[in-house]
Amino acid sequence: MKAVTINAYGAPDVLEVTDRPMPVPTPQEVIVKVQAVGVNYADLLVRQGIYPFIPQFPAILPGEVSGIITETGSDVQHLRAGQRVTGYAPAGYAAYAAISATALTVLPDHVAPAEGLLTHALTAQHLLEQTSGYSSVVITAAAGGVGAKAVQLAKIKGVPHIIALTGSAAKQTYVRSLGATHVINYRDADWLQQLTTVTGTQGADLILDATGGDTPAQLVTALAVNGTLIIYGNSSGQPTAVNPQELIMKSARVAGSTVYNIPPELRQQWNRYLLELIADGRLQSQVNNYAFTDVARAHSDMENRRNIGRTVLTFPD
Ligand SMILES: NC(=O)c1ccc[n+]([C@@H]2O[C@H](COP(=O)([O-])OP(=O)(O)OC[C@H]3O[C@@H](n4cnc5c(N)ncnc54)[C@H](OP(=O)(O)O)[C@@H]3O)[C@@H](O)[C@H]2O)c1
Repeated sequence: MKAVTINAYGAPDVLEVTDRPMPVPTPQEVIVKVQAVGVNYADLLVRQGIYPFIPQFPAILPGEVSGIITETGSDVQHLRAGQRVTGYAPAGYAAYAAISATALTVLPDHVAPAEGLLTHALTAQHLLEQTSGYSSVVITAAAGGVGAKAVQLAKIKGVPHIIALTGSAAKQTYVRSLGATHVINYRDADWLQQLTTVTGTQGADLILDATGGDTPAQLVTALAVNGTLIIYGNSSGQPTAVNPQELIMKSARVAGSTVYNIPPELRQQWNRYLLELIADGRLQSQVNNYAFTDVARAHSDMENRRNIGRTVLTFPD
């Protein structure tokens, strides 16, 4: 079968399309014929060798997939061949992937493979559930995979003030169409001033940041009293230190978050909820499709902040 493999860490050109043996399921696994791979930012970090999970070379890149079950392990009772599923596969960038049966979510018939990739929506849902009763949320990288889902879910939750930070005018237009009430381009020199003008003396109750670098420390300026800043990624580098005095004076907190810590039952419950929203059109994805053979370009475009929405690799039927 065809697979995307790496034999060294580095730039997108380390990604190669190679022939690999078909996976064989353990008793607890199923084999999925992959239709779509969701390119998540973490995949770029794995490729660069700076993610906590480091594969052994030569490695098929791990990834989120959706597709059709072709085979089930001998202990698997609740799934059968022919079902459409989504989940994370340790060797996901491939035409066929072995996945633990308990890690899979069944997709409804009317949800397309690319729409059924749930990691971004699940991450956003998890972030927005970590505090309650808030009336304002600030979302950085708001036109990206997680960010666009966070804007839409905040709207669905009825958050009155959804302040979206993005890196281009086209991204601003997109996040406004999703329900952002205020949009700011954080490549503007005065973006922080624009933000504090929007959040006013009250400040923002919840701020979600995955860009890292200096941004989280700057965002504390816009936090409300008792506000929460959640750091869940670092696409622009390791976050610099936040000034504790600023937190003390606001009784504010800084938290971290990862989708990996969602308990399995809650994960399934939220996945079902998110699939309902997707099926009735309330939660949408703008999809950037790439043939799997074009994987290096997909990684490069995401890394260079060119893409709006969800980046997906497609495999032929
Ligand atoms: N903790 C978790 O559980 C979890 C789960 C999923 C993703 N994440 C994190 O969430 C972030 C978004 O992931 P995603 O898969 O949805 O990706 P994405 O948002 O589709 O792409 C990354 C976006 O980050 C922004 N960005 C800012 N600085 C960047 C830089 N130096 N290089 C590249 N992009 C930069 C860009 O948007 P602008 O041009 O608008 O700035 C870019 O579009 C990543 O940091 C990822 O690691 C965390």
